[in-house]
Amino acid sequence: MRVLVIGSGGREHALAWKLRRSPKVSKVFVAPGNGGTARDSTLTNVNITDIHALADFAQTEKAALTVVGPEAALCAGVVDEFRSRGLRIVGPTKAAAQLEGSKAFAKDFMQRHGIPTARHTTFYDAEQAHAHVAQRGAPIVVKADGLAAGKGVVVAMVAAEAHAAIDAILLGKQLGVQHNAGRACVVIEDFLHGEEASFIVLCDGKNVLPLASSQDHKRLLDGDTGPNTGGMGAYSPAPVVTPNVHARVMHEIITPAITGMARDGIAYTGFLYAGLMIDPQGQVKTLEFNVRMGDPETQPILMRLKSDLFEILMHTADGTLDKVDLQWDRRVALGVVMAASGYPMSPRKGHVINGLPADTDDTMVFHAGTVLRDGRLTTSGGRVLCVTALGDSVKTAQHTVYEAVAGILFNGAQFRRDIGSRAVKR
Ligand code: AMP
Ligand code: GLY
Repeated sequence: MRVLVIGSGGREHALAWKLRRSPKVSKVFVAPGNGGTARDSTLTNVNITDIHALADFAQTEKAALTVVGPEAALCAGVVDEFRSRGLRIVGPTKAAAQLEGSKAFAKDFMQRHGIPTARHTTFYDAEQAHAHVAQRGAPIVVKADGLAAGKGVVVAMVAAEAHAAIDAILLGKQLGVQHNAGRACVVIEDFLHGEEASFIVLCDGKNVLPLASSQDHKRLLDGDTGPNTGGMGAYSPAPVVTPNVHARVMHEIITPAITGMARDGIAYTGFLYAGLMIDPQGQVKTLEFNVRMGDPETQPILMRLKSDLFEILMHTADGTLDKVDLQWDRRVALGVVMAASGYPMSPRKGHVINGLPADTDDTMVFHAGTVLRDGRLTTSGGRVLCVTALGDSVKTAQHTVYEAVAGILFNGAQFRRDIGSRAVKR
């Protein structure tokens, strides 16, 4: 069978790598892919991003299944387009993708369906937003409404930061946010304390299957400091997701979200990612929903997956997820992102990458912002690589990953040295 993976990041490299390991898969196309998928002779990059052209391609090449990595294609309606042509695809429709595409939609949805989340107010007017911050004080959280690649959220520890964020989003239209319907809007919400985890499930419209838990490090710098990024590293499992927390998340967040969507007339299909804040008492709140797998969470999660990903995704597309039983490697997987200098605001590109280790079953370098030019790998984006390894403990996985990271060289590389540290302390 032939499979198409849409996207170009580390998540898509991991999806393509895992799908290619299925004995049922003869060919994996990645559109558009990256330098890592280009240099893997078992994968084929195709330079297409337009959703109609992607559907044309899937039809001509007789792809049995398409899986979508990034939110932008989902929010643009790639699933609706494929389904209208009878093509098998894993992902939510454009209507369902609003759960990620609009923070205001997601917050209203959670409130309507009793899903625990921070208290919030939505503002179109900067003066009203400033007055709200002045009244509530810091810490407080300001979120741009549209898609922003993880950069549209400012956790303000002092009020001045919140005021600056309001101006940047509503007046300056900065932070690279795609404003919905051309109209800038911010969500301002209460600051939540606790530890974060990523909880990702697969859904076929009726059945829900949770994947292994994971934790991402969103801040740029060690000790969870510096600006928010798309994610600087991740590991699976996340010890903070105890069996008790797992049960609560399914009962209080995931099930109400899927049934709430159905009640609103939208059958939810594909991956659903709940970003969680877990307090010391084990109470869980939803920070956000994403309508796809996480990046970099996918990389460690898929290294731990023992089951055949192609079969799982076929069952998802066909509405038969109840037939699937997932098998996980008991070991820990941990991934460290190597990013370009200047990331997240203005990454510098075009540097040659040297010293990549050979990939093995236990250590993989998943590529994101790389291109293969004249046989040489060159940086082409903010997050460049995600070096991922399995180990018997967090410490062993860390050791293997950081040994590999130390050998990889490109100009200005930045990476965190403490990925997994929270799990080590437990
Ligand atoms: P989001 O894209 O909404 O998940 O926000 C990005 C990151 O900002 C989260 O992963 C958290 O680290 C942080 N964050 C978002 N909302 C809050 C909140 N209400 N309280 C504390 N931190 C938050
Ligand atoms: N790693 C966070 C995300 O994918 O949104």
